[in-house]
Amino acid sequence: MGGTKIFVLNKILVFKIGGSVLTDKKRSSLEVRVGVLRGIARNIKELIDEGYRFILVHGVGSIGHLLVAKYELHKGIKGKEKLIRLTETQNRVNEIIRSRVLRVLEENGIPAVLFLPSSTIYQENGRIKEFYYRPVQRFFDLGFVPIFSGDMVADTNNDLGLTICSGDQIAFELAKVFNAKTIIFGVDVNGIYDRDPVLPGARLIKRLSLRDAREILEKVGKGANIDVSGGMRGKLREALLHPSFFENGGEVWIFNALRENMLLKVIKGETEIFTRIAG
Ligand code: IPE
Repeated sequence: MGGTKIFVLNKILVFKIGGSVLTDKKRSSLEVRVGVLRGIARNIKELIDEGYRFILVHGVGSIGHLLVAKYELHKGIKGKEKLIRLTETQNRVNEIIRSRVLRVLEENGIPAVLFLPSSTIYQENGRIKEFYYRPVQRFFDLGFVPIFSGDMVADTNNDLGLTICSGDQIAFELAKVFNAKTIIFGVDVNGIYDRDPVLPGARLIKRLSLRDAREILEKVGKGANIDVSGGMRGKLREALLHPSFFENGGEVWIFNALRENMLLKVIKGETEIFTRIAG
């Protein structure tokens, strides 16, 4: 393979497994792709054994997005009715997604420990204001792999009460706290395309500067219809909201986690089929 080899900038990786990888968000299927998840877990284990440290994040997939949209939880928690709906949403996401991810990680020998954003994050109008990270830091220092996911969290906004905190936003916050220089997003397409990848002639962008990211934002697909947290556009928006991450040498890599062993190939510089956003 030609071209320059790209290596990760330090051995701490924030890796988000997108909800579109865990479930088929386009078909609104609630089934978790356990086979794909197992493959990803094997790759993570291999990299841990080589000395990489992971902080994991995962999306809530079809079930989370469907329930949040159905009960309009993203429009605020008002009235008693909404309380039990939030409980129901939390419980279904715990059962269908979170516990599945945790079990597969455990089965592959990854010492993952779950942290809920609703227990560790306070927001202001949908943006993280406070992150109580000290317990997470301690677990990480001991060798555990902290794992987060998208969630509804407390918000200072009195009209809303709770707001969505996407896994994408959490990934940048975690990179800051843990001084990770590489944030990796595993999604269901090969990376960012110059237009919606379903359109004919769409080309994968392998290298994107933050400045180009602004331009490309409007051309990028908005993700599946059920998506209440922004899909690929949400990731670009997050990147643009964190210029200092890139100024300090940080990079965001976006690759297709539905393809076998892609995480390994991306980290080891064995493929160029992914998008790399760097300052
Ligand atoms: C969304 O989280 C959180 C809620 C809808 C409560 P994410 O944005 O991280 O989830 P995915 O990756 O799109 O499934």
